[in-house]
Amino acid sequence: MRVAFACDHGGFPLKQRLLAELRADNAEVLDLGTNSPDPVDYPDYAEALGLAIREGRAECGVLVCGSGVGASVAANKLPGIRAALCHDTFSAHQGREDDDCNVLCLGARVIGPELAAEILRVWLKARFSGLERHQRRVNKVKALEEKYCG
Ligand code: RB5
Repeated sequence: MRVAFACDHGGFPLKQRLLAELRADNAEVLDLGTNSPDPVDYPDYAEALGLAIREGRAECGVLVCGSGVGASVAANKLPGIRAALCHDTFSAHQGREDDDCNVLCLGARVIGPELAAEILRVWLKARFSGLERHQRRVNKVKALEEKYCG
């Protein structure tokens, strides 16, 4: 499973930390930047990450900005992207198991790197349950997207 990573300047140090951990585990990663602390605009990186998933270059992604808020708002504008800001492990695994989220958003100025790394590990291990009631709800989310964003 290839995991795409992207961030703005606020998320840059945390992205580097998380990438180093995944690379040490021989995980397949796609780093879409930014690659310095120079100010950039988070929607550009949310778009790059969302496109990588939509085009099949990655199966899921991790998006980091200062709070995680702007990144999640922007990523959710791309059809097919279900991005969730998770700063606890319960939301991280439930967001995958029940809601089939394909992007994890993190706020580098909100949580510490150890908690972020633990959340990421939990998120990566979790899988969509496929249970009928959850599939039905995800289908309704997709229907909203078609109805209002088509
Ligand atoms: C950038 O200063 C900051 O606004 C951004 O990283 C993020 O927190 C937005 O939600």
